[in-house]
Amino acid sequence: MKPFDIVIVGGGGAGLYAAMEAMKTNPALNIAVLSKVYPNRSHTSAAQGGANAALANKAKDDSVEMHIFDTIKGSDYLADQDAVDVLCSEAPKIIRELENIGTPWSRMEDNTIAQRPFGGAGRPRCCYCADKTGHTILQTLYEQCLKTGVLFFNEYFALNLSVHGSRSRGLIAMNMKTGKVEAFPAKTVIFATGGYAKMYWNRSSNAAGNTGDGQAIAYRAGIPMKDMEFVQFHPTGLRKSGLLVTEGARGEGGYLINKDGERFMARYAKEKMELGPRDLVSRSIETEILEGRGFDSPAGKYIHLDLRHLGADLIKSRLPQIREMSLNFEGVDPIEEPIPIRPTAHYSMGGIDTDNFGRTVMEGVYAAGECACVSVHGANRLGGNSLLDILVFGRIAGHTAAEEAGKFEPGSISEEELRESVEEIRTRMQPSGHYERYGALREELGQTLALNVGIFRESSLLHKGIQDIAELKERFKKVRVFDSSDVFNTNLQQVLELKNMLDLAETVAVGALAREESRGSHTRIDFPVRDDEKWHKHTLATLVDGKAIPGEKPVTMGRYELQERTY
Ligand code: FUM
Repeated sequence: MKPFDIVIVGGGGAGLYAAMEAMKTNPALNIAVLSKVYPNRSHTSAAQGGANAALANKAKDDSVEMHIFDTIKGSDYLADQDAVDVLCSEAPKIIRELENIGTPWSRMEDNTIAQRPFGGAGRPRCCYCADKTGHTILQTLYEQCLKTGVLFFNEYFALNLSVHGSRSRGLIAMNMKTGKVEAFPAKTVIFATGGYAKMYWNRSSNAAGNTGDGQAIAYRAGIPMKDMEFVQFHPTGLRKSGLLVTEGARGEGGYLINKDGERFMARYAKEKMELGPRDLVSRSIETEILEGRGFDSPAGKYIHLDLRHLGADLIKSRLPQIREMSLNFEGVDPIEEPIPIRPTAHYSMGGIDTDNFGRTVMEGVYAAGECACVSVHGANRLGGNSLLDILVFGRIAGHTAAEEAGKFEPGSISEEELRESVEEIRTRMQPSGHYERYGALREELGQTLALNVGIFRESSLLHKGIQDIAELKERFKKVRVFDSSDVFNTNLQQVLELKNMLDLAETVAVGALAREESRGSHTRIDFPVRDDEKWHKHTLATLVDGKAIPGEKPVTMGRYELQERTY
C-alpha cells in the first residue's frame, strides 16, 4: 500500500472534519480515515441537542465573550483559557460553514438558525437540528469527504501505533472483514476515536464502541493522558438503558420532578433550575434519590422528567427522537406520562494531552475531539460544547497535520512489528487451561466504576475501585476468544476493547483518588471543597515501562480570575 500522508483513526465528527480540512489545505495529500464502524454510524450521531455558538439569533445581546465566560465557569476554572478563546471564537464560523455545505439546521420564524437554551449557558445559543443534530452533521461531513477523495477503511479496528524513537511511523489495524492485521505506514496519525464512558457499561449513554481505543493506543505508546479523573454524568439517562435524553428536553422547558411532586432543582440552583450545569444537576438528582425522594422500581431508583406541559406539537416537532426512545426503551409516551431518568456516564473530559493545534508530545501524532484533552472543558463540560469541540478542533488538527506532514519522512512498518500484533491476537484465540470470559469482566468493570468511581467519590470507595480494576486486569490475562473465525470476529474485537477500557479505567480511578478536592464533575465527599491552592492544575498519567507515572501541568489563565461558582 502507498504510504499515507495522514491516517485518521475514527470516522466521527472530529475525524471527518479533520479529513475534510486536510484535503482542503492540500488536495494532493494521500489521506485515509479508518473507522471500526461505518462513519455514519459513529457515536457523533447520538449527539442530540446541538452545538453552541454565539450567533445572537435568539438572544440579540449574546456574544462570544459570554460564551467564553460560561465555558470557563462551567469548567470550574480548570479549562485553559486560550483554548476556550479559540473554541468560542471559531463557533459562529463553523456553524455557518456547516450550513453552507448542507447541514439542515432547525430555523426560527425569521429563517435564521434556531437556538435553544442549554445548561450552564447565560443565553440560548445551542444551534440544533431537532434532536438529531449530531446525526445530520455526520451525514454532511461524510458526503464532503467522499466528494473530495478521502479514502475510507471502514470496519478496521486500530491496534497499535508504530513508534520509532520519538516519532510514529504509522498505525497497525485489523481488517474486521478478513481478520487480517494490516500496516498503515503514515507520516502523521490523528486520533479522533471519541470517548471512553462505555467503561461504565450499562450506566452509560455511550455507544458500545466508545471504549477509548485511541487513548489506550496512545497511552501504551507513551503519550500522556490528561485530567482522566473527570468523567461527566449526564443528568438525564433513561432509567433502564442509560440512553441519552437530550438536555434539549429541559432547554425546551421540561421539568425534573421527585416523588413528592416537587421541582426540586429550586433547592440546588434557584436561578437556573433545570438548566444548571450538568455536574450540579446530576448531583442534585442523585441527592434526591439518596435522601429517599426518588421513585423506586425493579429497574432501579429514578426521577421524573416531565414534558407533558410542552404539548404534543412541540414534542413531535423538536423532540421526536426522545419520544421514540421513551416509547421503545421505557414504554412511556412523554406526551402522556413523565419519563423515568437517572444520571448516566456520558462524556470523558480527560484524554490525550494536546496543544491548541492538536499536537501531542510525539512527533507526527495528533488528537482531536473527545479522545483529546486540549483542554476546553476542564472539570465539567457544558452541554452543546462537545459537538462544537469536535468541529473546531477536528478542523484545526486536520489543518495542522496537513501543514506539517511534509516535514516528516514517509512512514514504514516492519514485518516484525506486524507479526508481534498478530502473535498477541493468536494467544488470545487459543483456549487452554483455566480461562476467563470477556462478558463477566466487562460487567464487573462497569459495576465497580458506577459504585466506586461514580458521581460521589470517597477515599475508601476509590481504593476499592482501584483494587477491583487491578484484579480485573489480572483476570484479563486469562480471557480467551471462543469464536475462531477470521471474518467479523466481534468476540475478538470486544476482548481488545476491554483491554483498552481496563487500562484507561485505572487512570480514571487513580486520578480520582489523587485529586483531594471537589471540582466540577469530580465530587469527593471527604474533600468537599475546591482547593485552588493545591489542585488548580491539570493531572497527567504517562505509561513508562508498564507503570503509570503521575505528572501535572499548569492551567493557562487569561482574563478570568478564579471565582466561586454559583448558579
Ligand atoms: O443533552 C444532549 O443533547 C447532549 C449534548 C452534549 O453532550 O453536548
